[in-house]
Amino acid sequence: MSALLEVADLHLAFGGVKAVDGLSFDVGEAEIVSVIGPNGAGKTSAFNCITGFYRPTSGRITIGGADVTRMRTSAIAARGVSRTFQNVRLFGDLPVLDNVRAGTHLWLRQHVFDALLHTPRYRRTEQEATDEAHRWLDFVGLRGDRAGAARNLPYGEQRRVEIARALARRPQLLLLDEPAAGLNHGEKRELLDLIRRIRELGTGIVLIEHDMGLVMEVSERVVVLNFGKEIADGTPEQVRQDPAVIEAYLGSDDDEVSGDGGFGDSGFGDTGEEAVRADA
Ligand SMILES: Nc1ncnc2c1ncn2[C@@H]1O[C@H](COP(=O)(O)OP(=O)(O)O)[C@@H](O)[C@H]1O
Ligand SMILES: [Mg+2]
Repeated sequence: MSALLEVADLHLAFGGVKAVDGLSFDVGEAEIVSVIGPNGAGKTSAFNCITGFYRPTSGRITIGGADVTRMRTSAIAARGVSRTFQNVRLFGDLPVLDNVRAGTHLWLRQHVFDALLHTPRYRRTEQEATDEAHRWLDFVGLRGDRAGAARNLPYGEQRRVEIARALARRPQLLLLDEPAAGLNHGEKRELLDLIRRIRELGTGIVLIEHDMGLVMEVSERVVVLNFGKEIADGTPEQVRQDPAVIEAYLGSDDDEVSGDGGFGDSGFGDTGEEAVRADA
């Protein structure tokens, strides 16, 4: 049986910059795989290739065994791939609810004539979209105002709205680009729980994340990128002890990755769970 997602020897170059330089990994159903590495390592570029936003220089990407390497974003989305962005991308002026309803349009199709004539079928479908959006907002635990403009929500809640919209597409594979960035400890703990509940739906998840406590606690496998190259791929335990990984992180000045400069303090060592559970 083929994996949900297979990435094989992916390369992406921008002029002289090798953003992704030989990345291979796969993700099964209900599996969580994290992609980590310093800023500029090529993590987001890999997501952009998987979603069809960038065309890889070489390599192969398959979804459920089907080659999607040269497919358009819309065709890849229709195959059940959904994502969130490193910098939250919502329709800021639109109500929270409408942002999530937008996700349902992938599978809840309106017919032009029904829409023009406002037929009972049109109204039923619109109601279904609204109900579905509320279900996903409940699922992500959004407590804020759903009728108000998305831009007025606190940042952590905007991130949840984005995840709800991605889930409203009913994806088989969900790509999360730094979902914990900007969240406080309590919010990170809730995110950990949310990611696990998404897996329970049977959804495969690829997680790009700098919070090592979160990564080590939630992932089945971890892929490590450094300057576009894959330097490790294994269980959290294997990766945390890998000399090449330790070297890449210790050799980095990147505050976001190394925290206050201490390898263990970043949550990468024995304190792994503390970063997520600090204020439990
Ligand atoms: N559209 C682009 N044009 C040119 N260079 C890019 C583009 N997108 C990313 N890069 C470069 O590719 C490298 C990897 O970037 P990125 O994938 O954003 O890294 P990460 O997400 O791991 O921080 C960086 O050197 C970045 O400057
Ligand atoms: Mg990135």
